[in-house]
Amino acid sequence: MDEIVMIAYRLEVNGHPQDVRTEPRKLLLDVLREDVGLTGPHAGCEHGVCGACTILVDGRSARSCLMFGIQGADHQLTTIEALASGDRLHPLQEEFSKAHALQCGYCTPGMILTALELLGDNARPTEGDVREALSGNLCRCTGYEPIVKAVLAAALRMREAS
Ligand code: FES
Ligand code: FES
Repeated sequence: MDEIVMIAYRLEVNGHPQDVRTEPRKLLLDVLREDVGLTGPHAGCEHGVCGACTILVDGRSARSCLMFGIQGADHQLTTIEALASGDRLHPLQEEFSKAHALQCGYCTPGMILTALELLGDNARPTEGDVREALSGNLCRCTGYEPIVKAVLAAALRMREAS
C-alpha cells in the first residue's frame, strides 16, 4: 500500500500561529475543525454552495470547504471564535441572539462573518445591501427576516459606538 504523504505548515488563526501536519488534500475546513480544534466553521454542502463553512481570509469571506489547508498558510484566518472578547459578545452576535436570528445555528457562524465583512465595507447598509451580501449563505430555519434585522441593528450599534 502507498504510504500517505503528510505535509507540515503553519496557519495564523485568530491571531495565533498553529502548526499542523496533514495530508496535502485535506480541506481547510477540516484542518480548522480537526487539527486546530475550532468547530465554528461548519460543514454543510462541502462544495461551495451553503456558506456554513465561511471564514475570513485576510478579512474577506471565503469558503473553507473550497480551499486546501495549505492554501491557508501565509494568510490571516478568522473564525467565529475570534469575535467575542471573553464573555462580551460582538454586537452582531448579541443582535442575532436578541432578534432570534438563529434556530439550529448551523448557518450562524457563516452568516455573522459574512455580515462582518459587509459592515467593514459599508457601515450604513440598506436592507437590500444586507440581503445581497447574505444571499450566498443559506438558512433552513429562520426565513431570513430576523437575520436581516439583526445585521441592521448591529450596524446601527456599531455606528453609534464609533
Ligand atoms: S460547506 Fe462550504 S459552502 Fe457549504
Ligand atoms: S438557523 Fe438553522 S440553518 Fe440557519
